Amino acid sequence: MEARNFLESMIWQQKSLLSIEGLSSEEILFILDKAKSLKESKGNEEPIFHSLRGKRIINLFMEPSTRTRVAFEIAAKSLGADTISISGEASSLTKGETLKDTAMNVQALGADAIVLRHSSPGSPLFLSRIVDVPIINAGDGAHEHPSQALLDIYTLREKLGDLRDRKITILGDILFSRVARSNLWGLLKLGAKVTLAGPSTLVPREFEKLGARVTHDPSVALKDADAVMLLRIQHERQQASHFPSLAEYANVFGLDSKVLSAMKRNAIILHPGPLNRGVEIESEVADSGRAVILQQVANGIAVRMAILHLCITSEKSSHS
Ligand code: CP
Repeated sequence: MEARNFLESMIWQQKSLLSIEGLSSEEILFILDKAKSLKESKGNEEPIFHSLRGKRIINLFMEPSTRTRVAFEIAAKSLGADTISISGEASSLTKGETLKDTAMNVQALGADAIVLRHSSPGSPLFLSRIVDVPIINAGDGAHEHPSQALLDIYTLREKLGDLRDRKITILGDILFSRVARSNLWGLLKLGAKVTLAGPSTLVPREFEKLGARVTHDPSVALKDADAVMLLRIQHERQQASHFPSLAEYANVFGLDSKVLSAMKRNAIILHPGPLNRGVEIESEVADSGRAVILQQVANGIAVRMAILHLCITSEKSSHS
């Protein structure tokens, strides 16, 4: 059985998924189309559902995760792979072992791919230069979270269609957000108009140089938006507070039904999770029909199946 079809061999040449910045718009659309066909075929007997049979995928999660880790596990199993998850606290990293030694040992144990979440920006790139197997970035510090952006963009396209000239606002803690960076790269590559919004301490003007509009006024950010992606405050990466209090943040930047009612009638609400209800989003909005938050989570399975299939069966993967 061929693990890979002709189009995949022609268009997808990447062995690892390290960032969205490093992908072309053609590659992004190829992953999304692959995810769509996987979602629509719902596990029937197509050969792709066995494409990773006999492969061993190790999830190395050095930071907490619910959605990403579980979705990667389900995705791997859905393609016939064996999957093992290791968390930071339960690994020998706590005994002084380096990430490099951990990865080399995981490879020696027969890993065919490593899915890595780590607090250090660039750690997936670092590992990709050390081990032979594909490295999938599941979030590296405030740098990138490519699989999250791909599932966000998948959901946006499912709801809005072609994203060219669509107005997408990302509101919240942009400075410390890997989700914001990956989405910014991906959305701009697909022709969307991106606004980054939040307190001036968390949304530096420098982002304008990348092609985004920056505003610190939520009413400007939300007025014409087709979709708004809310981000939580990432306290785990902040050394000091960047605004007076959570209550004041919620008062100025939180999305409640009054703010929602001033937005376009069909505008949709996204959030990568975890939610901090009552801070960046009120429960009445999070649980409303306008929010597509749980659809994002569910789409994460098909998107991660596409990522694992394309990277692990790539001609450049020594284990294909
Ligand atoms: N969105 C996201 O990365 O969630 P987890 O931290 O639960 O994986």
